[in-house]
Amino acid sequence: MRVGFGGGSAFNRASPSSHACCVARIVADYVTPCPFRPVRILDVGGTARGFAAAGADALPADAVVVIANPEQGVGADYAYVSDIPAGVEGFDLAMLFGVMMYLPPEPLLGLFGDIRRRLRGHGTLLVAEPDPEGVIGRVEVVAKTVYSAVKSLWSPTEFHFHTAGDARRMLREAGFARIEDRPDLTPNAMEVWPPPIPPYFVIAAGV
Ligand SMILES: C[S@@+](CC[C@H](N)C(=O)[O-])C[C@H]1O[C@@H](n2cnc3c(N)ncnc32)[C@H](O)[C@@H]1O
Repeated sequence: MRVGFGGGSAFNRASPSSHACCVARIVADYVTPCPFRPVRILDVGGTARGFAAAGADALPADAVVVIANPEQGVGADYAYVSDIPAGVEGFDLAMLFGVMMYLPPEPLLGLFGDIRRRLRGHGTLLVAEPDPEGVIGRVEVVAKTVYSAVKSLWSPTEFHFHTAGDARRMLREAGFARIEDRPDLTPNAMEVWPPPIPPYFVIAAGV
């Protein structure tokens, strides 16, 4: 899966990975320390300044955070999930925060499948994405559509707007069985002030 590059790593207040309070809750709910081996976390589309930094105090000291991101200079270990060699150990938790908008449905479905195959049996994929529904979401869709049309005059730019319903459907199709909405993991739900926009939806998916 080598499509979808085009994001920006500018600090993104609306993403759960930008806030220590959200990351601490994610760690409490999805990272169980193991006495025999380090916990392994895959941050797809992440940056070294994102989840790994915000979770510095909450993560077990020996936790390993692997970043797959094609953007230069973000501290990634691999460009794409498909670049991770087959023999590399599986992950207990994977994240895909703010990445779906760069991918059309078919490559996104392929990416969900790639991530599922990288998870350990008990593992969870957390998906967080700007919600294109609701009043703010619809305004954001218009703004991004205008922005991409203008930017495409010199550099092809395209956004794909996936709803929470689309994400749930694709996750099921990619083989995830346990799917749960987690609106409580957003900075908005944790009353970060001023409220970050656009609001995100968060979904947890297990195999
Ligand atoms: C809006 S940023 C989100 C950064 C961070 N995950 C967060 O939530 O704040 C989107 C990132 O997704 C990355 N990206 C886009 N397509 C990707 C793909 N197919 N695989 C991995 N990362 C991708 C971009 O390079 C960009 O850094």
